[in-house]
Amino acid sequence: MSLWNEIGNRWHHPRGLVGRLAGHAMAIMGEKANRLAVDALHIGVRDTILELGFGPGRAIELLASRATEGLIYGIDQSEIMLEQAKRRNRLAVRTGRVFLYKAPFEALPFPDESIDKVLAVNVVCFWADPMAVMGEIRRVLRPNGCVSIYANDMATKGNWRFAGRETNQRFLAAELTDLFLQGGFDKHRTFVRSIEMSGWTNGLLATVSGPRKSIGPVHR
Ligand SMILES: C[S@@+](CC[C@H](N)C(=O)[O-])C[C@H]1O[C@@H](n2cnc3c(N)ncnc32)[C@H](O)[C@@H]1O
Repeated sequence: MSLWNEIGNRWHHPRGLVGRLAGHAMAIMGEKANRLAVDALHIGVRDTILELGFGPGRAIELLASRATEGLIYGIDQSEIMLEQAKRRNRLAVRTGRVFLYKAPFEALPFPDESIDKVLAVNVVCFWADPMAVMGEIRRVLRPNGCVSIYANDMATKGNWRFAGRETNQRFLAAELTDLFLQGGFDKHRTFVRSIEMSGWTNGLLATVSGPRKSIGPVHR
């Protein structure tokens, strides 16, 4: 495996020293994307929010600062990210406002219709079975819930050697829209927009809010 793919793998599953360093890099590089994706959720003070793949926990911190009387949940597969995110949010964890778990995207450890808002920043590229994850999001989301997904766009990923196709799936705006539609969300409430992040990074912000079709099989 090439060195670039090895780095890409540590971004996907932070482990060891490289994973630890990747977590610190994510906390800096993902700041703007996390803020925009959180803004798109229009957080209310009493919201119950779930972040998929919290990494170093920057967005969790932001969510906790907005949902001051709410509950913030997060899942991530990486032990190192769990450690970094817990440390970054230690006060909110200690006071029972933030709950962070080691768990996979495909089996969310939450009851049906228990979450108001779902956030997923720079993780959709790692959904091995996107429909399985959409099915889980739909299951845990309350009927009027919202979802905000941020992904770097295809051209940006093409410029990053560590984000090769071997380790990262790439999405066009239309494909993100399809993900929501096939996942059973309403096309009239699904929006995907391109965002210029910096001179060399562009992203896609996909949001869906409001009613969805009743829970049934997800189209694959
Ligand atoms: C590139 S990081 C993004 C972290 C954070 N959202 C951010 O923007 O800084 C991707 C994260 O997704 C997690 N992840 C990847 N695949 C996963 C899976 N199948 N289940 C749970 N977490 C996963 C990784 O451990 C990693 O922390």
